[in-house]
Amino acid sequence: MTTETILIIGSNGQIGTELAEVLRASYGTDNVVCSDLKKPEITPGPFEIIDIMDREGVYTIIKKYKVTQVYLLAAMLSATAEKNPKFAWDLNMQGLFNILDAAKEGIIKKVYWPSSIAVFGPTTPSVNTPQYTIMEPNTIYGISKQAGERFCEYYFQKYNVDVRSIRYPGLIGYKSAPGGGTTDYAVHIYHEALKNGKYTCFLNEKTTLPMMYMPDALKATISLMEAPAEKVKIRSSYNIAGMSFNPLEITEAIKKHIPNFTIDFAPDFRQAIADSWPQSINDQEARNDWGWKNDFDLQKMTDDMIFNLKKINLF
Ligand code: NAD
Ligand code: SER
Repeated sequence: MTTETILIIGSNGQIGTELAEVLRASYGTDNVVCSDLKKPEITPGPFEIIDIMDREGVYTIIKKYKVTQVYLLAAMLSATAEKNPKFAWDLNMQGLFNILDAAKEGIIKKVYWPSSIAVFGPTTPSVNTPQYTIMEPNTIYGISKQAGERFCEYYFQKYNVDVRSIRYPGLIGYKSAPGGGTTDYAVHIYHEALKNGKYTCFLNEKTTLPMMYMPDALKATISLMEAPAEKVKIRSSYNIAGMSFNPLEITEAIKKHIPNFTIDFAPDFRQAIADSWPQSINDQEARNDWGWKNDFDLQKMTDDMIFNLKKINLF
């Protein structure tokens, strides 16, 4: 029987929706408490309304359920953050401090906090970007993630806080909608291909970005959280890689299922964000330290996305 009680903060979002399912399957429904700003229509297990900015409210829920681990997913993503930088900084940083401090005070034992490829910037080597390299992010989201990484490592070194983190690439899944990122096009494109047979992309055709299918991201997250502490040698955040592609390449993969699918391009402010990020990621440390290995490439993901979207939405 598990002795862990997990709290997911930001569980209604793209990752939380799916993470809650897999954690509940493995730890038991009642041992995984979901939370977000609003109660969703369907709540298959315990749910609490939490505003991550409300430290006392967060502590009350942690104590109520005797929470041992927190997965902190509440944040503002890259595209939305650029529209409201001050708010994004406050949310992304204060939210993290509230949870790191709870761990420092010993009321929780373990923290998961995701970082992003957005920690890299235009001066970072963009192909096969190493774990340790130049990091000069120029988006408020990237700046908050880089600062967050520094604080995670600081809390580990100074206060022995067991905090673990992954620099996710753009995530793609069929069960939940993305929440305001620059990589969101790679989810929307599947829906539009099935619904309308065409898609207008907000990034240009040459924009290659690191991406990952959600089952791989969930596998990485849980493997890292379940790894023995001595194997977690990086306490800022781990690079992980799945695949890299540009909008033309994903179009070709979709065309294997929908031959008449067409794409055109109308780049907007998100182009500059994407241009500042790497094209591909070197994840050797994650592979060496805790055995990370991806399962999905672009075509395998596309086959699975289209199969499942057809099943769910009856396109
Ligand atoms: P999302 O925007 O889909 O979900 C975030 C959730 O947090 C939402 O349900 C939102 O209601 C909730 N939230 C917002 N403010 C809150 C508050 N004050 N208190 C409580 N909840 C609040 O985001 P996501 O894609 O699920 O991302 C989760 C985490 O993973 C974020 O830290 C994000 O930066 C990181 N990440 C995501 C991706 C990706 O491609 N999805 C890539 C890299 C990193
Ligand atoms: N998918 C995220 C975004 O585009 C990357 O962190 O914001």
